[in-house]
Amino acid sequence: MGSDGYENVTVICRCEEITLGEIREWLDRGYDTVDELKRILRVGMGPCQGRGCQDIIMREISRRRGIPIDQVESGTARPPGKPIKTGLLADMGDE
Ligand code: FES
Repeated sequence: MGSDGYENVTVICRCEEITLGEIREWLDRGYDTVDELKRILRVGMGPCQGRGCQDIIMREISRRRGIPIDQVESGTARPPGKPIKTGLLADMGDE
């Protein structure tokens, strides 16, 4: 897929500062699942836990693989789904 001129300045994952160009580069190398891109680029692993970037990454995977977006796996989610203060977990004790 050719460059659109903006892919190296278009930041997709703001938390990890990953551009569209970097995502496309790794898709070209064959890393075409959300989990693989997470492992390589840490996309979706920032403080927002992918709420800011995951849909865009899934759309890019969909385009690259030529499949509908509903067939792109969203990747493994690990709790907590939202960032919380560690003290809150400590206060829960044995619950
Ligand atoms: S924007 Fe990607 S993890 Fe927050």
